[in-house]
Amino acid sequence: MSQTSEFEWDDRYLMGYAAMDDTHKEFVDCVDAMLTASDEQMLAALDAFIDHAERHFEQEKAWMSADGFPARDCHVEEHDKVMESAYEVRKLVAEGNCLVGRDFAQAAMEWFPGHADYMDSALANWLVKRAHDGSPLVLRRKKPGAEQ
Ligand SMILES: [Fe+2]
Ligand SMILES: [Fe+2]
Repeated sequence: MSQTSEFEWDDRYLMGYAAMDDTHKEFVDCVDAMLTASDEQMLAALDAFIDHAERHFEQEKAWMSADGFPARDCHVEEHDKVMESAYEVRKLVAEGNCLVGRDFAQAAMEWFPGHADYMDSALANWLVKRAHDGSPLVLRRKKPGAEQ
């Protein structure tokens, strides 16, 4: 774990489906590791991210396939775009271009909240409904001073 975080977990990312929430916490940690990596650490951090993202996206794809989820193609397309960039960026970082690794990490951080809100939350709702016939129960801690 790095000393200073650039990208921290926030409970507003909680989707109410525990397996997905755990994976998303790991995603945030992996992106944070890239954001705070030194030039020497960048390639290893990127490899760790790729390893995570492959499992993360495969898991969601499997959930969507098993349930015949309606918005599957659009969701999978967004994942695929991230992986395409990740593999491209990996080549450049391996050649010593660490700056592109940092830009990628920044882009991944900016990508996540929107993707989680629009794509993953719909999937989480679907999964919870199928499992319990109800909406996900999400308990978020209130941040001190935060508005209701
Ligand atoms: Fe996700
Ligand atoms: Fe997703």
